[in-house]
Amino acid sequence: MDILPGTVIGLRGPSGSGKSTLLNVIGCILEPDAGSLRLSGELVYDGKWLRTDLRALRLQKIGFIFQAHNLLPFLNAWENVAVARILAGASLTQARSRAQELLAYLGIERRAHAMPGELSGGEAQRVAIARALANDPRIILADEPTAALDSQRAGTVMDMLRKVAVERQTAVIVVTHDEKIFSRFDRIYSLRDGAVEAPKVAA
Ligand SMILES: Nc1ncnc2c1ncn2[C@@H]1O[C@H](COP(=O)(O)OP(=O)(O)OP(=O)(O)O)[C@@H](O)[C@H]1O
Ligand SMILES: [Mg+2]
Repeated sequence: MDILPGTVIGLRGPSGSGKSTLLNVIGCILEPDAGSLRLSGELVYDGKWLRTDLRALRLQKIGFIFQAHNLLPFLNAWENVAVARILAGASLTQARSRAQELLAYLGIERRAHAMPGELSGGEAQRVAIARALANDPRIILADEPTAALDSQRAGTVMDMLRKVAVERQTAVIVVTHDEKIFSRFDRIYSLRDGAVEAPKVAA
C-alpha cells in the first residue's frame, strides 16, 4: 500500500481480518513477519527495525485515535492534549498554548476545561484528534473512531479528519465497519484473512 499525504484512506474487513494489526504495524507498535515499512520516505522496517528509537519515532510522526476511551479520565480536555506535547519535550506553558490552539482548530476550545466524563462522544473524539495532532504527525491512525457515534457526530469527526488531511497534509488511515462513512474516503482497502484486496476508489 502507498498512502499519500493529504489523503484519507479507509481500511475495512471482517472481524479478525487484521485491520488493527495493520495499524499497529504502521504505528511501529507491532513487528511485522514480512515486508517493509516506510514512513515519510524513511525505511523503518525491512526484515528488522532500522531505528532503535521507535518510541521517539511514534511521538514525532504518528498520531493515534481509538474507538472510545481515548482520554485520560483524570485530566481535563486541554491537559489530555498537552500531555502528548510534554512527552515530546515541551514545557507545560508551551504544551498548554499548543493544546488551546488545537482545540480551537477543532472548534471545541470552549470545552478546554471539561473533564472527559463531561464531554459527549463526539466532543471527546475531537479532543482525541487534537491530541493526535499535538506533535504535528505525518500520519494519523484511527481505529474505528466513529463506531460509538451517531451519524451526525460521526460525520463531524470525519469532516475534522478531512480538514486535518487537507490543511496539514497528513495521511489519515481510518479502520471502520461503518458503512455510513464509506463515501468519505479517497480510497478503501479491504482486508480478508490478513491480506489486502485490490483498493476501491470510493463512490
Ligand atoms: N500480537 C498478535 N500476535 C498474534 N496474533 C495476533 C496479534 N494481535 C492480533 N492477532 C490475531 O490476528 C488476527 C487479526 O486481528 P485484528 O485485531 O487485527 O483484527 P481486526 O480486523 O482489527 O478485527 P476487529 O474488527 O474485530 O477489530 C486475529 O486472528 C487476532 O487474534
Ligand atoms: Mg480491530
